[in-house]
Amino acid sequence: MDATKLRRVIARTPLAPVAAFPKRLARVARYDAKVLRTSARWLVTSREHHNYTYELTKLSRHHLAWFVSVVCDVPVKQVRAYLNEIETDEQLRRHIEQATATASRRGLADKHVRYARRIGWYAIVRARKPAHVVETGVDKGLGSCVLAAALLRNTAEGHPGRLTSLDINPEAGYLARATPWANVVDLVIGDSVASIGALDRPVDLFLHDSDHSRVHERSEFEAVEPKLAPNAMLLTDNVTVTNVLAEHAERTGRRFLAYRETPARHWYPGDGIGVAW
Ligand SMILES: C[S@@+](CC[C@H](N)C(=O)[O-])C[C@H]1O[C@@H](n2cnc3c(N)ncnc32)[C@H](O)[C@@H]1O
Repeated sequence: MDATKLRRVIARTPLAPVAAFPKRLARVARYDAKVLRTSARWLVTSREHHNYTYELTKLSRHHLAWFVSVVCDVPVKQVRAYLNEIETDEQLRRHIEQATATASRRGLADKHVRYARRIGWYAIVRARKPAHVVETGVDKGLGSCVLAAALLRNTAEGHPGRLTSLDINPEAGYLARATPWANVVDLVIGDSVASIGALDRPVDLFLHDSDHSRVHERSEFEAVEPKLAPNAMLLTDNVTVTNVLAEHAERTGRRFLAYRETPARHWYPGDGIGVAW
């Protein structure tokens, strides 16, 4: 009896789990060794302790382009051009590198600029040309810079827009305090739900990225609802953790879609972009 026939015979006997064990062990060990190698490399090469940055895998970037194309109803070629635009924006990249190198908290930041799913935020702003974007949760200001860069390009093309960035931490947003990006950014310090309640202009694009608890995320979407412009779009950075935006979309008669990013060369499993429109 040849090996294949023998394997098939064993697969039908009570010995099957024992016979399959070495193959299963080798598979899981190969996978875990890869995760351990990546984690060990990250521990010695990165300084980040939260809000990790990384590149997307090539495939994840392809999927992101299609995701934005669908939710914004623009051709995927156009979206790819937007993604390329932010990735090749050397002025922004140099600014972030320099501001990071001189920041007081540089010991907890990496030198290399990596935007991850934020390139999707950029493409959405470029595609929709919103007059007023609100981002809750700023941290260093990486997302604020990316959103501001998109608004500056829109402005140059005759579609002016501003970003209101909300954070509870007075030290947040140091990357977004430099011109030209600061020219389109209003940084507001305070609890996001209270700050949303005080907004005095309609919101065309809203992004939740602050306190990622289910309760706080829901409170933000409820607070922003009466502030929204007609056909506004809602985004969440918390879509791999909660179903809050999907539930809000269902309650308010919107469509909903989620993208899950895949980081390249990083142990972190990644976050995503949830969209309701
Ligand atoms: C994940 S970080 C934001 C990341 C940022 N959007 C980016 O692109 O890198 C979360 C931020 O939310 C802020 N935050 C936490 N609770 C908040 C609240 N209740 N109101 C406003 N900001 C809050 C934190 O201070 C922190 O800077």
